[in-house]
Amino acid sequence: MPPYKVHIETFGCQMNEYDTELVRSLLKAEGFAFTEDRERADVVLMNTCAIREHAHNRVYGHLADLKAIKRQRNLVIGVLGCMAQNLKQDLVENESIVDVLVGPDSYRRLPGLLAEAILAQEEGLDHRGIAVDLSEYETYQDILPEQTEGINAWIAVMRGCNNFCSFCVVPYTRGRERSRDPLGIIREAEQLLANGHKQITLLGQNVNSYQYGDWDFARLITAVADLSGIERVRFTSPHPKDFPPALLDAVAGHLKICKHIHLPLQSANDRILSMMNRTYNRKEYLHLVEEIRRRHNDIALTTDIICGFPSETEEEFQDTYRTVQEVGYHAAFIFKYSERKNTIAARKHPDDVPEAVKSDRVTRLVELQKSISLKKNEAMIGRTVEVLVEGDAKKSSAQWMGKSDGNLTVVWEKDQAPVSPGGLVSIRVSRASATTLFGTPLSPC
Ligand code: SAH
Ligand code: SF4
Ligand code: F3S
Repeated sequence: MPPYKVHIETFGCQMNEYDTELVRSLLKAEGFAFTEDRERADVVLMNTCAIREHAHNRVYGHLADLKAIKRQRNLVIGVLGCMAQNLKQDLVENESIVDVLVGPDSYRRLPGLLAEAILAQEEGLDHRGIAVDLSEYETYQDILPEQTEGINAWIAVMRGCNNFCSFCVVPYTRGRERSRDPLGIIREAEQLLANGHKQITLLGQNVNSYQYGDWDFARLITAVADLSGIERVRFTSPHPKDFPPALLDAVAGHLKICKHIHLPLQSANDRILSMMNRTYNRKEYLHLVEEIRRRHNDIALTTDIICGFPSETEEEFQDTYRTVQEVGYHAAFIFKYSERKNTIAARKHPDDVPEAVKSDRVTRLVELQKSISLKKNEAMIGRTVEVLVEGDAKKSSAQWMGKSDGNLTVVWEKDQAPVSPGGLVSIRVSRASATTLFGTPLSPC
C-alpha cells in the first residue's frame, strides 16, 4: 500500500483535539502519511462535535464542500467523534459521501476500515465501514498521542460521563465514565516533560470524578504536579459536585497547580438546576465558591452558562444574572440552549423559549461578563504576574504572549527582555482590556 495521505479536521472540545492526536498516532503506526492540504489528501477525516446545533451544522457544511471534491476524484471520507456516535446510520444513509464512520471508543479499528474503504474505492465498489460501539473499558492506555508542538500537552485521564445533565448529548456520544491507570498517566506525563513540554493539562468530560482503585483526582493531580521538570498543571472540565476538601487543598496549596478553576454554573435558579439534573442548588454552588476563596483568594474562576433552557422565565434568568454579578468570574462561556435529539430535556421539556429571548439573555449576560472581566483585569494593573511564555502574540509578532497562573492572557513587547517559549517571566501589568493584560517584564528567569 502506498503511503496514503490523510487530512484531519477537528471540531469541538479539547478531548476531540486529543483524540485527533491519538488517531494520528494509530494511523502513523499503520503506514499512513498526513497532509495539511485537503486538496492533496486521499482521505479526509472529520473529528466532529455534537454539543450544539451550530457545531452540528458546521460539520454538514464541510461535508457539502467535500462532496464537490469527491465528484472529481477518488476520496475516502471518514466521520469520527461525537456526531459519528450520535447519528450513526442516519449519517451514512442521508450523506452518501461518508465512507467510514467511527465513534470515540472505536479508533483502533480506524486504520483497517480506511484501508478497506480505499481498496473498495479503487475497485469501484460501494462500501461503508462503521464502528460506533461504545465501550466501558477503552481508555487507549497504551497509545501515546502525537503531541510535538507547544508548551502545553494534554493527557486524557478519564473518558465518558455518567452525569446525564438533561440538556447534554455527551453521555450518549462518549458513553460511561472510565478512568485510566495512574501509572500509565504518570509515564505519559514524564515522556511529555522529557519532550520539552512545560505544562500538562489533565483532561476528562468530568475530570474530577477520576477514580482508579484508591487513586482519586486529588491524588492524581498532586502526583503529576510533583514530577520534576513540570512548571504547571491544569485540568478541565470539572463538575462542581466533585470537589472534596483534598482537591481544593491541592489546587490552593500546590505551587505547580494553576490557580484557576472552571466551575460550570449553567443556571443559578434552583428549579432550572433541578430540571437540568445538575445535582447542586444555588446555595451549594455558592458555598463551594466560598470554600475555594477561603483557601486562596486569588484562584480565578470561570464558568459555562446556558440561557433559555426550556420554560426558563425572566425572573429565573435574573437569578443567574445576579449570581454572575455576585461571584465575579474572570470569564464565562455563555450559550443559547440548543435542543439535542434523545437527551432527557428533548424528551421531557419542549424547547419553548423563543430564539429572540434566548439571544437577548445571552447578549445581556455577555455584556455583564465583559464589564466584570474588564474590572477584574484592571484590578491587576500595578501587580506582577508570573507568565509562562507561549509564543507570538496574535496581533503582532513583535510581541510575546503568555498565560498567567490564573489563565489570563498577557502580552508584552519582545524587545524588552530575552525570553523564549516555555520560559517563565515576571510581568508588571500596566494596562488591561476585558480579555488581555499588557505589561513589561521585570526579570526573565
Ligand atoms: N463536561 C463539561 C463540558 C460539557 S460541554 C462540563 O460538564 O462542564 C461545555 C458546555 O457546553 C457545557 O458546560 C454547557 O454549558 C454547554 N452545553 C452543553 N450542552 C448544551 C446544549 N444542549 N445547549 C447549550 N449549551 C450546551
Ligand atoms: Fe454533559 Fe453534564 Fe457530563 Fe458535562 S457533566 S459532559 S454537561 S452530562
Ligand atoms: Fe463536542 Fe463531543 Fe467534546 S459533543 S464538546 S466533541 S465531548
